[in-house]
Amino acid sequence: MALEGQHVVVTGAAQGIGECTARRLAERGCRLYLTDIQAEKVAGVATDLGAAHGPVDITEPERARAMINDAIVQLGHIDSLVNIAGIDGPDDDALEETEEHWRRIIDADLSGPWWVTRAVLPHMIERGRGRIVITSSITGVMGFSDFAPSYHAAKAGLIGLTNGLSARFEADGILINAIVPGYIGTGRPMSQTEIYTYNSQHALGMGGPQPVADAVCYLLDDSGNWISGTVMNVTGGLLRGQ
Ligand SMILES: NC(=O)c1ccc[n+]([C@@H]2O[C@H](COP(=O)([O-])OP(=O)(O)OC[C@H]3O[C@@H](n4cnc5c(N)ncnc54)[C@H](O)[C@@H]3O)[C@@H](O)[C@H]2O)c1
Repeated sequence: MALEGQHVVVTGAAQGIGECTARRLAERGCRLYLTDIQAEKVAGVATDLGAAHGPVDITEPERARAMINDAIVQLGHIDSLVNIAGIDGPDDDALEETEEHWRRIIDADLSGPWWVTRAVLPHMIERGRGRIVITSSITGVMGFSDFAPSYHAAKAGLIGLTNGLSARFEADGILINAIVPGYIGTGRPMSQTEIYTYNSQHALGMGGPQPVADAVCYLLDDSGNWISGTVMNVTGGLLRGQ
């Protein structure tokens, strides 16, 4: 399944890793449908790239379904889905996290990618092929004392989701994988001290969003033809042995 010419839906494409990935996929000759809760911002990126676009709130299953239907109409079909939308994990002491905050993070970072994935699966099953990438996080596989419990749980849950779904849908020709980025530097603004700390934690320094975008390209292209149910470590040496 060559990347060039693929029809790809990217969630969270208004900024950060999602926008960077959309730009990389456009350079590699993909036809794109870009979506985000920030409707105007994603429309701006899409216009710049000559891509189709539409809004979504991934926490709402019906809106996720409507967005996928719109993407099928606008693109004709979907080869690949790249789940990047999510809420960055704020610093939050475990005992201070509120019930409201827990539910909001689980909704956006765990349930949301599932609603979008669930919406596209029948279309991919019908076509007998498809690629799906799910963006987990270093917090899905390593513990950090200053990240909210909800964020750890949601991002670890995405790895379980990837394992289960990949086993279930390989026979339908659909390959599903997760990416684990280290600290990327997008999302919330960081102080100079944080940037220094994060830089020193990564053996290769902080890499920015481009390595994640390139990992997505690798998984969607022919290079990913025999890769399913993997958790791709893109952490600049922060995470080892996985
Ligand atoms: N930045 C990092 O260091 C880092 C590290 C590991 C994992 N991640 C993950 O990568 C993904 C992208 O991170 P980023 O740094 O680019 O963040 P970001 O905040 O810059 O971008 C996230 C995008 O998702 C969109 N979004 C949020 N909630 C949404 C919803 N309910 N429906 C639709 N769109 C929604 C936002 O509008 C935004 O455009 C997230 O899932 C994040 O958890 C980021």
